[in-house]
Amino acid sequence: MTTPNRIVITGASSGIGAALALHYAAPGVMLILIARNETRLATIATAARAKGAIVETASIDTRDTATLTAFLTASDSAHPIDLLIANAGVLEGRTADGTLEDFATAARVIEINLLGALATAHAVLAAMRSRNRGHIVLVSSLAAFSPLTDAPAYSASKSGLLSYGLALRAALAGTGVTVSVACPGYVESAMTDTHIGEQPMKLKAPQAATLIARGIAAKQAVIGFPRPLYLGSLLSAIIPEPLRLFFTKSMRFHVAAERPPHCYGQRRPR
Ligand SMILES: NC(=O)c1ccc[n+]([C@@H]2O[C@H](COP(=O)([O-])OP(=O)(O)OC[C@H]3O[C@@H](n4cnc5c(N)ncnc54)[C@H](OP(=O)(O)O)[C@@H]3O)[C@@H](O)[C@H]2O)c1
Repeated sequence: MTTPNRIVITGASSGIGAALALHYAAPGVMLILIARNETRLATIATAARAKGAIVETASIDTRDTATLTAFLTASDSAHPIDLLIANAGVLEGRTADGTLEDFATAARVIEINLLGALATAHAVLAAMRSRNRGHIVLVSSLAAFSPLTDAPAYSASKSGLLSYGLALRAALAGTGVTVSVACPGYVESAMTDTHIGEQPMKLKAPQAATLIARGIAAKQAVIGFPRPLYLGSLLSAIIPEPLRLFFTKSMRFHVAAERPPHCYGQRRPR
């Protein structure tokens, strides 16, 4: 694919999604930015417009798949989408007092991180196939390879996304439509602000956006980074489980019950 100029990003109001929006923002580029919080979306949109991009925002909860699909279908018919990045996600898990996630929480995480991302991809997939052109990127995590003891649903959602993305990529081989799965390690964001524990080799969000964009340009199947953690995660998937647990013991964490003030001065909804 040449440089994409019609780009959809979900979860664009914060963290990695916002950094991706600003990474791609340039004259001649149209960005369609989706998240729930309109105020934060507007802040990112203003910054992207200042870099010369045309920006549309839509306040949509990706669990509202009917609204999401209708919006993306209409958007794609008006201006065909080249690149769609399904990035919206949430982290839940063990709290400071040791409470494990309950079923309702687990279901919500799966609904946003896995089903919401699939709904996003499928909203444009048929149109991309009819054009024999387009790139879909699912933002998973290194947790897809090495499940996090303290965040079972998050880990399941991310490995589900990796599995789905790689299967879909293979199924679409030769059609002109590409699928990539991004698997970041730790990246500074509102999400990692709530992750109370070790976060080795943590990157700034713009660094993560640059690495993801590089992987997208190269049409990589899996965009895993930082490299040492990616290789460690791959290795952890093939060693005996007691060894994996031993090596990841120092990575135990809990999720802050209260969301810290957001980088744009507001509290995030759960
Ligand atoms: N940061 C890391 O270390 C890391 C590592 C691996 C993978 N990831 C993945 O990277 C992605 C981005 O995370 P981040 O670290 O940038 O976290 P973040 O700063 O908390 O951003 C999450 C984004 O998702 C949006 N979002 C959450 N639920 C949504 C929903 N139901 N509908 C629509 N938008 C929703 C949020 O916006 P609103 O609240 O405005 O809706 C926000 O824009 C996630 O999928 C995450 O799992 C992050």
